[in-house]
Amino acid sequence: MTSLPKDPNGCPFLILAPMEGVGDRCFRKAMASIGGFDEAVRDFLRVPKNAHVKSLAVEYCADEIAPIPLAAQLMGSDPDLMGEMAQEMENRGAPRIDLNCGCPSNTVTGRGAGSSLLKDPEFLYQVAKSIVKAVSIPVTVKMRSGYEDTTLFKENLLAGQESGAHYITLHPRTKVDGYGPPARWDLIAEAKSILKIPLVGNGDILNVQNALDMLKMTKCDALMIGRGSVINPFIFHEIRAHFSGKPYVPEWNDLKRYLDVYVADIPEGVAMRVRVNKLKQLFSFLFKGNAELLNKRSAILTSQPSDLHSFLDFAIPLLKERCPFSS
Ligand SMILES: Cc1cc2nc3c(=O)[nH]c(=O)nc-3n(C[C@H](O)[C@H](O)[C@H](O)COP(=O)(O)O)c2cc1C
Repeated sequence: MTSLPKDPNGCPFLILAPMEGVGDRCFRKAMASIGGFDEAVRDFLRVPKNAHVKSLAVEYCADEIAPIPLAAQLMGSDPDLMGEMAQEMENRGAPRIDLNCGCPSNTVTGRGAGSSLLKDPEFLYQVAKSIVKAVSIPVTVKMRSGYEDTTLFKENLLAGQESGAHYITLHPRTKVDGYGPPARWDLIAEAKSILKIPLVGNGDILNVQNALDMLKMTKCDALMIGRGSVINPFIFHEIRAHFSGKPYVPEWNDLKRYLDVYVADIPEGVAMRVRVNKLKQLFSFLFKGNAELLNKRSAILTSQPSDLHSFLDFAIPLLKERCPFSS
C-alpha cells in the first residue's frame, strides 16, 4: 500500500491538486520552484472511446517537476482503454495513476466519464479495477461526493477501495454543486470512518488554519490543495512551518522566481492575447489573496497590455507593494 508519510515534524503529506486550465505545466513548474508539497497530480488526460493511447500519452511527462513526483490522472470510461493508457503512463515513468471521478464538465460526463462514474458504483469499480490490473504502480481514485446527491456516497467509496486503489482523494461536493456551496468536510470525516485505505482530504483549504481545521475535523491522512495554492503559492510551506514551529516568511525574490518560471513556460505559438490572458488569470488569483490587492484586481483584468512584459511592468509593482503577501 502506498503510504502517505508525514514529514519529520508531523506535517501530513501535501499534494498539489490537478487543475485543468489553471494548474497546467507552467503553473506546476512555477510551484515546483517554490516547493513545499510532496507530490502533484497532473490535470486529466482524456481517454475517449476511440483513443489512440500512444499518441495521447505523449502529453504526460513524468519528470516535468522532478524531483517532485507527478502522478498521471486519467479520465475515461472504457475499462480496457483506461487499462492500456495506464500501462502507457507507467512506461512513461508515472509514479501512480489517478482515476478522475469528479470532473463535472458536460462534454466529459456526457460520455460516462469523470463524475458520471459516480452514478454507477459497479461501473466505477470495473474501470478502476481494469487500471489496477494493468499496472504495477499504485492506482488512486479522486472523487466528488456524488453526482446529483450523496445517495451513492458510501457505495462509491467502497467501489474505489475494493478495486485495489491505494487511497482515495475526496472533494466533498457533488457534480451538481460545481464549486458553489462550501465543501462538506463532514463527508470527509464520514469517508474516513468508512474506508480502510488512506483518505486525502480536499476542498476549500485557503490558509494554514483551514488545513488544521480539516485535519482536526476529519482525521484525514493527507491534504490536497488546489485553488488555495494559486492564490497563495507559499501555502504548502506555511502549513509545513506550522508543524516545524519555524516561521516561514516568503520573500519577494521567491515570488519573483515563481513568476519568472511561469512566464518562461507560457506556451508559445498561440496569440499574444491568449498568452497575456493566461498571465492575467494567474495575477487575478494572486490578487485574491489579500484585501489590499483585491481592490486592484479589476485594474489587472481590464488592462490591455500589448505583450507579457508590458503586463508585468504594470502588475509587478502592485504586487511588490504587498510582499510578503501571505494572508
Ligand atoms: C480550474 C480547475 C480545474 C480542475 N481540474 C481538475 C482536473 O483536471 N482533475 C481533477 O481531478 N480535479 C480538477 N479540479 C478539482 C480540483 O482538483 C479540486 O478537487 C477542487 O478545486 C477543490 O479543491 P480546492 O478547494 O483546494 O481548489 C479542478 C478545479 C479547478 C478549479
